[in-house]
Amino acid sequence: MIKYNWDTVKEEQNVGSCETMQVTREEASGKERKLYIESYGCQMNFSDSEIVTSIMKKDGFGTTSQYESADVIFINTCSIREKAEQTIRKRLRQFNGIKKEKPELMVGILGCMAERLKSKLLDEEKIVDLVVGPDAYRDLPSLVRKVDDGQKAVNTFLSREETYADISPVRLNSNGVTAFISIMRGCDNMCSFCVVPYTRGRERSRDPYSILNEARNLFARGYREVTLLGQNVDSYKWSEAENNKSRLDRNLEIDSYVDFAQLLEMVANIDPDLRVRFSTSHPKDITDAVLITMAGYENICKYIHLPAQSGNTRVLDLMNRTYTREWYLDKIASIRRIVGADCGISSDWITGFCSETEDEHKDTISLMESVKFDFSYMFAYSERPGTPASKKFKDDIPMEIKKQRLQEIIDLQSRHSMERNSEDINKVHKVLIEGYSKRSKEHLQGRTSTNKVVVFPAGDYHKGQYVHVKINECTSATLLGEVMKA
Ligand code: SAH
Ligand code: SF4
Ligand code: F3S
Repeated sequence: MIKYNWDTVKEEQNVGSCETMQVTREEASGKERKLYIESYGCQMNFSDSEIVTSIMKKDGFGTTSQYESADVIFINTCSIREKAEQTIRKRLRQFNGIKKEKPELMVGILGCMAERLKSKLLDEEKIVDLVVGPDAYRDLPSLVRKVDDGQKAVNTFLSREETYADISPVRLNSNGVTAFISIMRGCDNMCSFCVVPYTRGRERSRDPYSILNEARNLFARGYREVTLLGQNVDSYKWSEAENNKSRLDRNLEIDSYVDFAQLLEMVANIDPDLRVRFSTSHPKDITDAVLITMAGYENICKYIHLPAQSGNTRVLDLMNRTYTREWYLDKIASIRRIVGADCGISSDWITGFCSETEDEHKDTISLMESVKFDFSYMFAYSERPGTPASKKFKDDIPMEIKKQRLQEIIDLQSRHSMERNSEDINKVHKVLIEGYSKRSKEHLQGRTSTNKVVVFPAGDYHKGQYVHVKINECTSATLLGEVMKA
């Protein structure tokens, strides 16, 4: 799937649940220092680690990959559920052992947990020297120097403008074929359960010039797929006037106002061989213009991640999702009508939100039944301190019930994934090859436009190539097939 590395459901992406990178720096003394970065959470965080690496490289750091020999460790953290934070605290305890043997080791907490807990983290986790929020990465080199001088360093300033537009990310653990491009930061929605507006700040859109340049550059380097990333891509908007772009800078292909449908079209026009994906769409904001643009370009992938969260209108209202069950179903009908019945559709769900009754949970099940999603990310509700839900509602559904409801929807989704995948048997799909299959070097794997993973005998094919694959078999997670010779 295209977006998250959640703690409960692992994605089948070109990155694992945690991704690492090491960076080294030649000090004036001639002693080489090493920095190691580990990332958790959503794709935005992984994308940010690529920006952090770029900033550190510019400051003289090189790259390698062994945390035991690191002088500086950065952990780019996630706060979305309590379990995500617990995982990071456990990891800190592991690093504590290393620090005992090597007291000069510097440990930095980056990302959402840094933003949520700020300098409290320094008191709670003695091992931590540096706390840096998602909008303060440009300050990293000077914060590192501050720690070098024997102080603790904190910067959790949230910006209304920062998009790191001019920073060219260093691609980490890349397959050389698919890449993520961050098009916006922050979130202005106030879903009552969600910590993101507090950890990532206000929504802001990145300059389309820099997005197009990044995509063109990736294509020139052999990449064949880009995923445009944001918490709510449909509310992307950029205007020349607001951003003080002078006429002289202006590339004539870009209008003075750009919305998401236009941005999508501009990226799709770079080259028919560059596939374009995007994530995440919000049911309240996705427009027919986006769907029409998708339908008009073969290289815009026919796949939409449209998180519903619940199938019950009262619960959706408590969640402040600002749409009803009927509105959501209407959006699904528009997708099927405009993009096509085959369009891949996935969702996120939360079970056991405050006061959710058994009947309301059944509405989630019936919504799943009527849409038959290709895939879902599913979670038990986890109360997050400071969110509207934590202030207004009681987290009153026992964990046992939350888990029971979660298991029910996991089982249902797995049946639906199998059903949807079976519909592909005997069909031919255009697949972009991403590399060898996880199980064997004799098989390659890639994705269909609808975001299904396809495994097939390798033959003479190679990654980055498009092939037409006839699907012969499937599991609930994978399609298996063979390449059709032209
Ligand atoms: N911007 C995206 C989602 C970001 S968070 C959107 O609007 O859909 C990713 C997913 O984590 C959410 O869709 C939700 O299903 C889940 N999530 C967020 N907060 C949660 C919480 N407090 N407990 C459980 N799951 C949560
Ligand atoms: Fe969180 Fe809602 Fe924003 Fe998604 S849209 S990041 S769920 S507040
Ligand atoms: Fe992403 Fe987790 Fe932050 S989901 S935005 S890293 S809280």
